[in-house]
Amino acid sequence: MAIDSRELRNVLGHFSTGVCVATAIDDTENAIGLTVNSFASVSLEPPLVLWCIQKDSDRFAVYNDASGFGISILGEQQEALSNRYAQKSHYALLAGSYRIGHSGQALLNDSIADLGCVITQRIDGGDHIILVGEVIEMEHRPGARPLVFFGGEYRQLR
Ligand SMILES: Cc1cc2nc3c(=O)[nH]c(=O)nc-3n(C[C@H](O)[C@H](O)[C@H](O)COP(=O)(O)O)c2cc1C
Repeated sequence: MAIDSRELRNVLGHFSTGVCVATAIDDTENAIGLTVNSFASVSLEPPLVLWCIQKDSDRFAVYNDASGFGISILGEQQEALSNRYAQKSHYALLAGSYRIGHSGQALLNDSIADLGCVITQRIDGGDHIILVGEVIEMEHRPGARPLVFFGGEYRQLR
């Protein structure tokens, strides 16, 4: 049976996820962000996580060429930030909205958890590249409520 891409998207949309902003530092030392929900945990020992970037993203080269990435997991109040970093041409992180952690990665202020990672593998994944990163730093806000993505819409935990 041929798999229809639109229907596949609908089916996969039944898997609820959190929403993250993946960050990178470009070759002019500017921090950029991209909204992603492909983030996943991989391994505890060694500490590995992954996310996937579309090969046709305007931001692809920066993320693929970078030595690492930051992941900021968004809270339920951060829907506007998610929309911002999903827009074309809105790459640069807003001044004052982030810090550079000891991993050298940009981490958004007010997110509910952050990880700074060094890229250990770039794996071909069809129209995406899977970026696997080793966690160098991390923090979280216990009890914070996440932004949830399900069925193509933002949700909140009830
Ligand atoms: C909730 C949500 C999740 C997304 N997840 C991903 C993802 O995991 N990987 C990805 O490459 N793009 C993802 N996108 C799309 C990007 O945020 C962005 O819209 C897309 O890359 C187009 O912009 P660009 O070509 O300027 O990069 C997601 C968008 C939204 C709204």
